Amino acid sequence: MCGIVAYVGHQEAYPLIIKGLKRLEYRGYDSSGVALLNGEGLKVYKKKGKVADLENELKAQELHATIGIGHTRWATHGEPNDRNAHPHYSQNKKLAIIHNGIIENYAVIKQALAKKGHQFNSDTDTEVLVHFIEDLQESVGCGLEEAVRLALQEVVGAYAIVVMDANDPTQLIAARKSSPLVIGIGENEYFFASDATPIIEYTKEVVYLDDNQVAVVKNGALKIVNLANENQIPYVQTLEMELETIEKGGYEHFMLKEIFEQPRSIADSMRGRIQADEGELQLGGLRPYMDKLADAKRILIVGCGTSWHAGLVAEYIFEELARIPVEVEYASEFRYRNPIIKEKDFVIAISQSGETADTLAAIQLAKSKGATIFGVCNVVGSSIARETHAGSYTHAGPEIGVASTKAFTAQVTVLTLMAVSLAKRRGTISEELYRQLLIEIAHIPRKIEQVLKAADRVKEIAAIFTYARNFIYLGRGINFPVALEGALKLKEISYIHAEGYPAAEMKHGPIALIDEDMPVVFIATKDSSYEKIVSNIQEVKARKGRVIAIVTEGDSFIPSLVDFVIEIPKTHEILTPLLATIPLQLLSYYIAVMRGRNVDQPRNLAKSVTVE
Ligand code: G6P
Repeated sequence: MCGIVAYVGHQEAYPLIIKGLKRLEYRGYDSSGVALLNGEGLKVYKKKGKVADLENELKAQELHATIGIGHTRWATHGEPNDRNAHPHYSQNKKLAIIHNGIIENYAVIKQALAKKGHQFNSDTDTEVLVHFIEDLQESVGCGLEEAVRLALQEVVGAYAIVVMDANDPTQLIAARKSSPLVIGIGENEYFFASDATPIIEYTKEVVYLDDNQVAVVKNGALKIVNLANENQIPYVQTLEMELETIEKGGYEHFMLKEIFEQPRSIADSMRGRIQADEGELQLGGLRPYMDKLADAKRILIVGCGTSWHAGLVAEYIFEELARIPVEVEYASEFRYRNPIIKEKDFVIAISQSGETADTLAAIQLAKSKGATIFGVCNVVGSSIARETHAGSYTHAGPEIGVASTKAFTAQVTVLTLMAVSLAKRRGTISEELYRQLLIEIAHIPRKIEQVLKAADRVKEIAAIFTYARNFIYLGRGINFPVALEGALKLKEISYIHAEGYPAAEMKHGPIALIDEDMPVVFIATKDSSYEKIVSNIQEVKARKGRVIAIVTEGDSFIPSLVDFVIEIPKTHEILTPLLATIPLQLLSYYIAVMRGRNVDQPRNLAKSVTVE
C-alpha cells in the first residue's frame, strides 16, 4: 500500500524516482506523483493510474533536479484521482509532502486550519498534515525540522512521510510511525523508500527508521532524532538482497517466476537449519525460546490472508506432532475482541511483509498481556520482525507478485520445522518418525520440481475453465487450508468467485450450487481422509459437477471418477500442502492470464496492508 521514493544527491532525481516507483508498483496503488526542486522552484506533477501514465504525460518536459520525492497512492481518504494523488503542497506551496499511512485526527486539524484561512485542494488527510507543518513554522517561528516534530507530536495515526522545502535544495525530512521507511546511504547521496527495492541498485548500506524517529538530510549529512529532538544513533545495515531477485528474469510475470522459484525458496527456508542425514534440526531464532514453547499451555497463531492460511496448516501439524492445543486467529478479529491471553501462551505471528497493520497491532496486544511472541516473517528488518521477541525468517527472497505464492510455502516450511523440532523436544514423536520427517522435508524441493513439470497440463485445464463464473475448492484435514488458499489465489488474480470449504461441510450449503457448470477442485491425495474424500467426489459427480482432482501419483481410482487429474508425488501427510498448493497456484495464474488480468497487480489489492 502506498509507496514512497525520495532522493537527494548529485544524480538526476526524476528518472531515479520513476524507476523506484515502478519497483514499488507491486505494493498496490491507484495514482502516482513526483515533486522536484530546481532553479525554477518546487513543482508537483501527479496523475491517476499507473506510473507509466504519469511518465507519459511528462515525457515532453525537461525535468532536471537533483532532489525530489515520489509516491504511489492507494486511496484511503478520497477517491483515486489526480487531485488526491501525492505529493501535496502546503498552503503557500513552499513545502511538498508524500505520506503512507492514515492521520486519524486530520478532521479536527483541518477544521482549525480552515478557520485560519487554509484552503485545501484534495480530500486527503495528507494535505492537512503539510498545511499543519507550514502553519506551525509560521506560528511558532521555527525551522522545518522543528515544525515537523511539533506536528507529529499532535498527530494520531500511522505515517511514513518525506517533506521537501522549496527554500532548501539540500534538505529532505522524513519520519515514521507504524509505516515502513528505509534510508539508503550512497556517496554524497541519500535515498528514501518504503522498502529497499528502489535502493539496492545504488547502495546496500541502509538504515531502517524506527517508530517516532525523524531523519534529516541536510547539506549532505544525515541525522536522526526522536520526536523530543534527542539524537538517535543510526544503525547502518548492509542489505543482502541482489538486484536480480527483484527482476522478472525472463518470466512473463513475477507471479510465475515466484511459483517456479519454490524449489529454491523452500531450500533457502531450510538452509542451515536441517541436516536430515545427521538427524539435526535447529532454528537459531527458536533455540532461546524452545523451553517456553515446549512449556506453553497453548499456541496462538495470528496472521491475515495467505499468512492466516499458513497458520491453519501449522495448527494441524503442531497438534498432530507436538500435542499442544493451537488456535489460529485473523489478526484483525483477535485485536478487537478482548482475547484471553495468558503468560504461558506462545504467540506465533505470521507475515510475509512484516508490515501488516492488524498483525502488528495483534502482536502489541498479546505482548502487553505478557505472552511470548515469535515472528515468522519474510521481509528482513520489517516492523513485525522487530516487534516480536524472537523469530525465524522464511528466507523466500523478495516476493513481488501481489498474490502470495513462494512466501506461503516458505511459511509452511518454517512452521513445519518448528513443529517437528518441538515434537522431538517434547518427546511426542518417535525417533523413527522424527528421522523420517527430516528426510521427507529435505526431499520437498525436488518433489516440487516434479510438480512444476505438470505446468503445461495445468495450463490445458485452465483453458477449459477460463470463463467459469464460480469455483469451489474442497479438502479435508490438513488439505482444507490448501483449499482455502487455492480459492483465495483464484479470487485475487482472476476475479472469479471461489470458495474454499472442508469437503464434508459441502453438504451443509455449497452442494446446492453444484450443477454441470460448477467446477470443483478436490485436494484428494492418498492420506488419512482418502476414503472420505472419495465419497465427497462421488456426491459432486452425482450432481454433474465438473471435478478437477489433485491426486497422489499412481492413484488409479480417483482418475476413473473425475474429469481432470493433476498428480503430485507421494510424501508424508503433513507435508502434502507444500506440494498440493503448487498446481493450484498455477491454475489461478493461467486462468488469470487467459482472462487478460493484471496478474502481478490485481485491482484493489495491496501487497502490504499497512492500514487496518
Ligand atoms: C495482503 C496480501 C496477501 C497477504 C496478506 C497478509 O492481503 O495481498 O497476499 O497474504 O496481505 O500479508 P502479510 O504480509 O502479513 O503476510
